[in-house]
Amino acid sequence: MPQTVLVTGGAGFIGSHTCVELLRSGHEVVVLDDHSNSSPESLERVAKIAGRPIAAAHTADVRDRRALDKVFASHKIDAVIHFAAKKAVGESVQIPLTYYDINVGGTTALVSAMHDHGVHRLVFSSSCSIYGNATVVPLTEESPAAPTNPYATTKWTCERILADLCRNLPELRVLALRYFNPAGAHPTGLLGEDPRGIPNNIMPFLAQIAVGRREELSVFGDDYPTPDGTGVRDYIHVVDVAEGHRAALDHIDDEPGMRVFNLGTGRGSSVLELVKTFEEVSGRPIPHRIAARRPGDVAELVADPAKVESAWGWTARRDVAAMCRDAWNFQQQNPYGYAP
Ligand code: NAD
Ligand code: WQD
Repeated sequence: MPQTVLVTGGAGFIGSHTCVELLRSGHEVVVLDDHSNSSPESLERVAKIAGRPIAAAHTADVRDRRALDKVFASHKIDAVIHFAAKKAVGESVQIPLTYYDINVGGTTALVSAMHDHGVHRLVFSSSCSIYGNATVVPLTEESPAAPTNPYATTKWTCERILADLCRNLPELRVLALRYFNPAGAHPTGLLGEDPRGIPNNIMPFLAQIAVGRREELSVFGDDYPTPDGTGVRDYIHVVDVAEGHRAALDHIDDEPGMRVFNLGTGRGSSVLELVKTFEEVSGRPIPHRIAARRPGDVAELVADPAKVESAWGWTARRDVAAMCRDAWNFQQQNPYGYAP
């Protein structure tokens, strides 16, 4: 059934792709974003791809209760998808209080406003980083949480707060989705990842090398206990992640309380495999050299996606080659991202 969905952080990388899927499925979309890490241009492009615009865009901080009250008073919101957060692991070590303030404080402000306005459905962006230094892969939702940095701790803290709220507020329904490594871009080349400054994540770094903005990739370590010694991750196409959110909305009323799902493919790729695939799909060489391990990195993070598949029939459909092809297409069409 069509719903009116408030999407916080809807102009960002995963949020913008999710807005497209929601609009295409007939939902109405209201976005709240302070554009601290995004451009309003992405929402213009969302409308272009979906063939219709979002209902409203509010430029505001998710911690701002007055702004939230205004949003909930002006739209009859059925469900909320909460993407708005800061996400850079390294930065979170430098400014942990800011991460607690925005990620945890933003979530409690949002849920408090939802409660006051009688809105009870929430999809929360969690992260595979909560599993920390996992020793056993693939990771199920029952694998122990052991966050190793402030960013991951904020996500795990939010999950625990939301679980506790669900125990005490029986009307609340929360789905926490633990994304593995979202990558790629919209196949139209209109939406993609547009990091500010030097990319932390590997896929935009590869795309910026291929387009000539950066010279070479430092491969962070080749002495991990993995087949080729480089780190293994479960890269998942951002459109698959977006489709996962559409499925989440379809299933949020299946059960009351809080439920947690991994969003991953179940297939791992090493850094060197990713470099090779990017070279093949782009036809450009990716100069790279082996460098020291990046502090805090782990050898391997791969999801066991069985739970979400059996619950919703959702499964990631796109492979790493599609992620590289779409990221490359976006980078070629937008060498400097959304900047004019
Ligand atoms: P993003 O930075 O592209 O999107 C986040 C959006 O939230 C941006 O548009 C930003 O402007 C907005 N925002 C940030 N702080 C805000 C605030 N205080 N008030 C209002 N808006 C604010 O990031 P993304 O990759 O799209 O990630 C979305 C969510 O998914 C985040 O919660 C992130 O922690 C989580 N996540 C991301 C990844 C990943 O690798 N991209 C993996 C796991 C989880
Ligand atoms: C992937 C692999 C690196 C850059 C991060 C967050 C995690 C989640 C997803 C939000 C690793 C290697 C990278 C480079 C490299 N985000 N690498 N050279 O670290 O798995 O996960 O994004 O929740 O919380 O930590 O992603 O893209 O940074 O790295 O060799 O220049 O590529 O060592 O093996 P990561 P990433």
